Amino acid sequence: MDELKLTAEEQAMLAGAEGSSVKRAMEIVVALARIYGAADLVPVVHVQIAGVSYKNLGDAGVAYLSAWADEGAQVRVPTTLNPMGMERGKWQQWGISTDFATPQLNVIDAFVKMGVTPTMSCTPYLFPQHTPRRDDALAWAESSAVAYANSVIGARSNREGGPSAIAAAIVGRTARYGYHLDENRRANFVVEVHCPVRSVADFGALSYTVGKAVGNGVPWFADLAPSLSPSPVATGEGWGGGSDRLKTLGAGLAAYGAVALYHVAGYTPEARDLGETLIRPDAQRLVVESLDDAYRVMDADPDLKKIDLVTIGCPHASLTEIAQVADYLRGKTLATRLWVTTGEPTRQAAAELGYVQTIEAAGGEVVADTCAVVAPMRMLNVRTMATNAGKMACYAPMHSGVRMRFGDVEQCLDAAVTGEWCAPSHG
Ligand code: F3S
Repeated sequence: MDELKLTAEEQAMLAGAEGSSVKRAMEIVVALARIYGAADLVPVVHVQIAGVSYKNLGDAGVAYLSAWADEGAQVRVPTTLNPMGMERGKWQQWGISTDFATPQLNVIDAFVKMGVTPTMSCTPYLFPQHTPRRDDALAWAESSAVAYANSVIGARSNREGGPSAIAAAIVGRTARYGYHLDENRRANFVVEVHCPVRSVADFGALSYTVGKAVGNGVPWFADLAPSLSPSPVATGEGWGGGSDRLKTLGAGLAAYGAVALYHVAGYTPEARDLGETLIRPDAQRLVVESLDDAYRVMDADPDLKKIDLVTIGCPHASLTEIAQVADYLRGKTLATRLWVTTGEPTRQAAAELGYVQTIEAAGGEVVADTCAVVAPMRMLNVRTMATNAGKMACYAPMHSGVRMRFGDVEQCLDAAVTGEWCAPSHG
């Protein structure tokens, strides 16, 4: 293996010239570089930290983060945060205990002390000041955001872990391996989809089928581009723009497989520029004939009728998605809870346009800072949920212990209106 090359500045950081926290962070980055055989480090322009909810961190995680902050650690590149376990302004009204809220707020304080911007959203790319550009090197730890940045934007990030992202933020670098290298961005699966993919939920079902088959591979979707222009017809087909569909596809590919990069022929930037030269000669062919099996697994509880919470916005909703929910709910009254989860800047933009007020008038909430996977749903008395998001259908039963229905956004919103899942099962 070639020796890892460090610049004079990096060597000084490693030797402790910039203090103990920088030295410790550089030790983490260098250890990972050696494990993965990186030739050198790459400066990053942005870091996204995951593992922010107290639900996942526990007391040991809070102590770990507080130790960094107390030592005086400071991030040296723009750094943002994944969702936490509650909304800043609503946790008391939701009935979240101070035993949960106090350590959760301590986590955010520790990050802010380190210079991190407390965005608490899994979609940093939706905020103009944090949207990466093509070829930007990133150290992002949110798997859905990594898939979006690599695939839809053409930026470059590996799936960082919690500590490695913090270390990268403190030293402003990460190891140059994996998806930072051209050779690893070529596709090793060619996916042909021979069935209609019409709605956001269909994209989630496709993510299940392909994610399970390709694992951590790089799929090339040969014929998906036409499905990224939603039909104007007033059915589930019309929901979400192309980027919303890819947001859900990447999140599901990362959740059901470990995909960090995919290409859509004629659509995503590298596929547009490089064409089929991006496909490895030994790529395997995968044909998707039907989404029925995916729906059977993802909507696995067909006897479940009563829904405690309908959740839309995984990954966090775009302004377009919030507008579509508001349009659908205008003049309706909900019988059960609805969360449209999003980032605070998007919620503010939605409030300026009146969408938040329309959703609230129906009885729903546009929720910032959190989601139904990282919030303590048992404390909120939520035991049954409905979602249109593939990743949520995968994670919420595992992490929040809920029973789940999965289907189109209209089926989900209809369940919010009636309090019951009335739609027939797919297929
Ligand atoms: Fe985001 Fe939560 Fe989904 S962090 S990607 S909304 S599971």
